Amino acid sequence: MKSDNNCLSINSDKLPMHVAIIMDGNGRWAKKKLKNRIEGHKKGAAAVRDIVSAAGNIGINILTLYAFSTENWQRPRTEVNALMKLLENFFISERDNIIKNKVKLQVIGQIWKMPKNIQAFIKELADITEKNTGLILNLALSYGGREDILSAFKKIIKKIKSDKLKPDEINEETISSHLYTAGLAEPDLLIRTGGEMRVSNFLLWQIAYSELYISKTLWPDFNKEEFFEIIKAFRLRERRFGKVAE
Ligand code: IPE
Ligand code: IPE
Ligand code: MG
Repeated sequence: MKSDNNCLSINSDKLPMHVAIIMDGNGRWAKKKLKNRIEGHKKGAAAVRDIVSAAGNIGINILTLYAFSTENWQRPRTEVNALMKLLENFFISERDNIIKNKVKLQVIGQIWKMPKNIQAFIKELADITEKNTGLILNLALSYGGREDILSAFKKIIKKIKSDKLKPDEINEETISSHLYTAGLAEPDLLIRTGGEMRVSNFLLWQIAYSELYISKTLWPDFNKEEFFEIIKAFRLRERRFGKVAE
């Protein structure tokens, strides 16, 4: 076990390999405090830092964070711009930490739709950290589960048209390996903060057998203590994958 003051009882036994989080509730957090929604997003960004470091410390392999959905582009322009600015600040302020902690940065989603400067930050950091062996921090940006599947379909059809693939050869693995998450294990645990009982177009194919955990905590209030409690609760789950209990 790696050191973290608050996770003394977390050892590597039955640790989820891949945790995915729908970080929801920034707006409601701000509203409760009579603040602007943007303030909620700012506080939310601080929670991201804590959870990334906590996940790395306990030895989770992959942390996928839903930071911006394909639908979130429909929010007011001022809010979208503020979110993009916060993302830029995140890359600037966390760059050295990410490198120092051997985190490997990856992204999933329509990255080409993101502002050019953010694309440049991502490219630079993904290149530098490519060979890192610590936590894989997988950021979902302009990500939608349906768009993920649609884009996989298009890639597969292209291969069929150019005779690189035969229709009869297509199986579930073909689809998995053409999704943005190609090469990554599927999430063992999907956490949603903010209490909503929905998946909001996140990782639709990949969460077929993920354990779900909905927390009522609004994302800006989410902390590593609660994260560790959820990990402990996950360990008590019996994952049957459609079979009978052992
Ligand atoms: C999550 O918080 C952040 C993003 C979706 C980018 P919200 O902004 O959705 O907060 P609520 O759900 O309105 O409280
Ligand atoms: C999901 O939250 C998207 C992210 C956390 C990035 P939303 O707030 O956009 O989802 P809905 O609108 O409640 O379904
Ligand atoms: Mg929301």
